[in-house]
Amino acid sequence: MGASPGEEIAYVNGEFMPLGEAMIPIEDRGFQFADGVYEVVATYRGSPFAIEEHMQRLQRSLAEIRIDHDVSSMPPLIEEGIKRSGFDEALVYIQITRGVAPRHHEFPAQPPRPTVVMTVKELRRPDPQLHASGVKVISTPDLRWKRCDIKSIALLPNILAKQLAHEAKAYEALLVDEEGYVTEGSSTSSFLVQDDVVCTTPPSSRILPSITRSVLCEIITELGITLEEKNSTLADYLAADEVFLAGTTTEAMPVIAIDDAIISGGEPGPLTRKIREAFVDSVRNR
Ligand code: PDD
Repeated sequence: MGASPGEEIAYVNGEFMPLGEAMIPIEDRGFQFADGVYEVVATYRGSPFAIEEHMQRLQRSLAEIRIDHDVSSMPPLIEEGIKRSGFDEALVYIQITRGVAPRHHEFPAQPPRPTVVMTVKELRRPDPQLHASGVKVISTPDLRWKRCDIKSIALLPNILAKQLAHEAKAYEALLVDEEGYVTEGSSTSSFLVQDDVVCTTPPSSRILPSITRSVLCEIITELGITLEEKNSTLADYLAADEVFLAGTTTEAMPVIAIDDAIISGGEPGPLTRKIREAFVDSVRNR
């Protein structure tokens, strides 16, 4: 494991420090109520990927939960955190909560200063072997709230789903809503390929507006592949020619089994491979 020399860094309300020294008060509303939002940004060749898109989504998440905070000063701080960490490739986690106040459910009468936290760690992309072989996933009910478009730090249903996947030695859990539609993965977007058409869940409050998903949608269209944003059931996924996942660290990941069903003959399918290759080319040449 060729770990690059570097140090895990934290940023808390204006100050950088080693990660191990960072502290947050117990009465931070993020800790008490999960009253906050977050972003995860990966670097390619040391530069944060799609930073404007991540900042736009963060600003929108803040507005949706009525935290008054302008994120326009974040990009230089992110750059600084990456530089300070010294890692060749970094994973940046940003979390903004409503701040510290005595524990009452309603917003504090005097809005506290939002808590702005960032951590910078070495980015470990999934083992290349996984992209080559494809991964197994499970399906599980989507127990999340009705505003999955907000990148809220309240991730308990996602965590419980991911743990089930982990216990099943699977990479991810596909979340299935009450009507039988697959919304997305517990921390990824999902796509299927049927008869050379790529399908993914349309943007709505049922899914996160994933940045990787939108980059892949552009790439799919540029490749001349037909893309349909439409809801697909678990049965559609099980019968699909190909299935893949998308996310900041996952990139585009082929799925070769769902529960006990083999997908795409147990190998990454041709369109998935083509789309992944185009993604890798585009991020390396951005
Ligand atoms: N997860 N869907 C969900 C529910 C997610 O949590 C994520 C990201 C995605 C993919 O979004 P993006 O392409 O913007 O990374 C889809 C992050 C990485 C996480 O929670 O760590």
